[in-house]
Amino acid sequence: MKNITKITCIGAGYVGGPTMSVIAQKNPAIQVKVVDLNTARISAWNDEDLSKLPIYEPGLAQVVQEARGRNLHFSTDVAGAIAEADMIFISVNTPTKTYGKGRGQAADLKFIELCARQIAEVATSDKIVVEKSTLPVRTAEALKSILDNTGNGVNFHILSNPEFLAEGTAIADLHAPDRVLIGGEHPEAIAALAQIYEAWVPKERILTTNVWSSELSKLVANAFLAQRVSSINAISELCEVTGANVEEVAHAIGKDSRIGPKFLKVSVGFGGSCFQKDILNLVYIARSYHLDAVANYWEQVILLNDHQKMRFAEHIIKTMYNTVNGKQITVLGWAFKKDTNDTRESAAIYVADHLLAEEAQLVVYDPKVSAEQVYRDLDSLGSRTPADNRRLVRVENDPYIATANAYAVAILTEWDEFRSYDWERIKKQMKKPSFIFDGRKLLDKIALVNLGFHYYAIGE
Ligand code: NAI
Repeated sequence: MKNITKITCIGAGYVGGPTMSVIAQKNPAIQVKVVDLNTARISAWNDEDLSKLPIYEPGLAQVVQEARGRNLHFSTDVAGAIAEADMIFISVNTPTKTYGKGRGQAADLKFIELCARQIAEVATSDKIVVEKSTLPVRTAEALKSILDNTGNGVNFHILSNPEFLAEGTAIADLHAPDRVLIGGEHPEAIAALAQIYEAWVPKERILTTNVWSSELSKLVANAFLAQRVSSINAISELCEVTGANVEEVAHAIGKDSRIGPKFLKVSVGFGGSCFQKDILNLVYIARSYHLDAVANYWEQVILLNDHQKMRFAEHIIKTMYNTVNGKQITVLGWAFKKDTNDTRESAAIYVADHLLAEEAQLVVYDPKVSAEQVYRDLDSLGSRTPADNRRLVRVENDPYIATANAYAVAILTEWDEFRSYDWERIKKQMKKPSFIFDGRKLLDKIALVNLGFHYYAIGE
């Protein structure tokens, strides 16, 4: 079996950065280079000040500190890193296509293809190429065709090794994964990759399959997870009209060992860069094989999620006497979940957009998201001009300043710190009546009602 001494990862994002940091931490004898075209991102990965790393993840800074400079390196020299590596991970973004055939559903594979072409052009020795990005089933076939037809006659073995980490718990997930999945045809290549993980992952947790099963499993895992969220969110609306309590229902059904308690937490809707994109991709693949019943079934998970975000925003407007025009609503939380600075597809963006359409004045506070990111997210929707977004939205970095003079507070991310705020102090400085709309069912209802708040939690 080939002994891997040099790994390169193309893409220093939310997956490439943490994943390679842990691989380097656990394999000190392997040199790991993470490369990216984005020079600002690479400089941030190399920043002496670890609080400036481009990604916030609990525990990440310590891992980077341990391995960086020893056997973990971040660089913009993509070609050089490809040339010297025995094994190349492709961990670039695979967003939903915004143009042409499959627009709005299919995965955009232009970044993947660019990587394949660059690997083919640069490689002068045999390489194992690992798909780390989430890809449509049978992408490996296209990769192989590009590599074999445009390359310099060297051998490429392609493996699928999808990543199952969750943002916010990436390091814990990488340190103790439920499973590592490796799909491939070539036993030696599979063994070479498995050996890297075996440095810290028990052998029985390393699963091997054919490439197509591996590629599809990642899409299916995300579809099943998102489906649970949409299922409990659908029930939350039923609870609200019947007097049932969604948390009690979730607890009662979760005790059934066939159902299990995880991923049954009601919310204003799932976000993040993956769930929606991967389900849309699954739907697109099913449709392209004319499996309309399958496609429609999974599409409903997304439609319900959109509905959940909208009905939360609608409820705010209705409760505030059917008008939020000119009223200050403070949004607590902008990231798509706690313990990350990632805002991609965050429910907060869509709830805010709906309130802004009604000319609400928003003040946003998130412990890890910058003002620039909030404006970027709103501008990217194209719902109004950037000038109007700045006129209607203010971003604060202190929760007490953010809530002063608010008519209502909307909790849109489940950050732990929101629980420990001095809500009595906040109540005193808000307009009366003071509303709280808790999109995460995070706060202590009884305590807040006792303080005089009008408190609404989703699913009650
Ligand atoms: P990201 O957008 O944070 O990072 C991707 C990086 O690749 C960017 O920094 C970009 O500049 C770089 N890049 C793109 N094309 C390049 C090229 N030709 N050469 C060099 N660099 C290039 O994306 P993220 O979140 O890390 O996702 C990557 C893949 O992993 C996606 O396929 C995603 O679906 C998958 N994934 C993401 C998870 C997550 O929680 N974010 C979890 C599991 C899988």
